[in-house]
Amino acid sequence: MEVGLKIVEEPGERQGEHIPVLLAEVLAAARVRPGQRWIDGTFGRGGHARALLKQGAWVLGLDQDGEAEGAARMLEAEWPDKFKWKQRNFKELKTCALEYGWDKVDGILLDLGVSSPQLETPERGFSFRAEGPLDMRMDRSAGATAADLVNELSEGELSKLFYEHGGEREARRVARALVARRTRAPFRTTTDLASFVAETLPHRRAGGIHPATKVFQALRITVNREQEALLAALPQAVDIMQPGSVLAVISFHSGEDRAVKQFMRDRGAEWLDTPRHPNTVPNPQHYFREVKRYLPSEEEIARNPRARSARLRVAIRNEEILS
Ligand SMILES: C[S@@+](CC[C@H](N)C(=O)[O-])C[C@H]1O[C@@H](n2cnc3c(N)ncnc32)[C@H](O)[C@@H]1O
Repeated sequence: MEVGLKIVEEPGERQGEHIPVLLAEVLAAARVRPGQRWIDGTFGRGGHARALLKQGAWVLGLDQDGEAEGAARMLEAEWPDKFKWKQRNFKELKTCALEYGWDKVDGILLDLGVSSPQLETPERGFSFRAEGPLDMRMDRSAGATAADLVNELSEGELSKLFYEHGGEREARRVARALVARRTRAPFRTTTDLASFVAETLPHRRAGGIHPATKVFQALRITVNREQEALLAALPQAVDIMQPGSVLAVISFHSGEDRAVKQFMRDRGAEWLDTPRHPNTVPNPQHYFREVKRYLPSEEEIARNPRARSARLRVAIRNEEILS
C-alpha cells in the first residue's frame, strides 16, 4: 500500500457531464401527463428534457449554444416523434413555439446560467480556474466577448456592471485598476484577468471564494445579456401557457431569482395592493393561481455542489385565462 497517496473521489459531476439540478422537484411540480407539450428553453445536455420525455411529454428543446447540438441530436434520434431541438435564444420563446406549431403549451422550463461542460471547457472562457481566451459567449456566432468588454468599456461602465450583475462591493476599485492596466497590456485570458483581480483585492485572498468570482459572473451575465433574455421570456411564457400549465424557473444568483420572484408574485396576487385601496381592486394580471419556491436538499448539495445556490420557482397558470 502506498503511504501518503490518497485518491479522493470528487462528489458530483465527472468531466463533460451535467447533472440536472432540482430534477425531482421539477418533475413533482410538472405533474406531466402523456402527450403534454413542454418547452425546455435551456436544453444544455438535456438532463431535464430527457426526464420530461420519459414521463410522456413532447419536448421542444432550445439552447443558444451550438455545443448543445451533439446531445440534442442523440435525443432526437432516441425520441424522433417527441423531441426536437433548435439553436435559439429563449428570448424568442413565443416565436419558437409558434414556428413549431404550438400556440399553447403545458409547461416551460428555464434552468438558467451555464452548464458544467461550458464551465469546464477552458476555450469557452467561462472559468477562472483554467487558462483560456476571455470569451464567455454562450452563442459563439455573435456579440462582444468578455475581453471586448474589459478592454473597451469605460471605467464607469465596468464599475456599474461589476456592482449590478456581480454584487461586487469593490467594483470601483477593480474597474479603476483594470482601466489603468489595460492601457499597458490588454486582457486576453481568463487567468490573466483572474490573477489581476486577486492582486487588486489582496485582502480577499484568505479563505472564501476566489476574489474574481463576482467579476466573472458579472461579465458572463453582461456578455450573454442574461437579464434581458429572462425579462423578455417571462411575459411570453404567460402568453403561451394553457390553463393549469406550469412555468418552472431555476436560477443561480440573487439578481435572477429576484426578477423571477417579482414576476410570479405580481401575477399571482388576486388583488392589487395599492396605498389608497389596499386589497380592493382585482389584479387584471392575475395569471397564476399558485406560486411556489423549492430549494435543493442537503443530500442533493452533497451529491452535486453546483446545486448549492439553485432556487426553483414554479407558477401554475389560472384555469380561466382572464385576458
Ligand atoms: C444550466 S444549463 C441547463 C442544463 C440542462 N437543464 C440539463 O439538464 O442539461 C443552461 C443552458 O442554458 C443555455 N442558455 C442560457 N441562456 C440561454 C438563452 N437566453 N437562450 C437559450 N439558451 C440559453 C446555456 O447555453 C446552457 O446550455
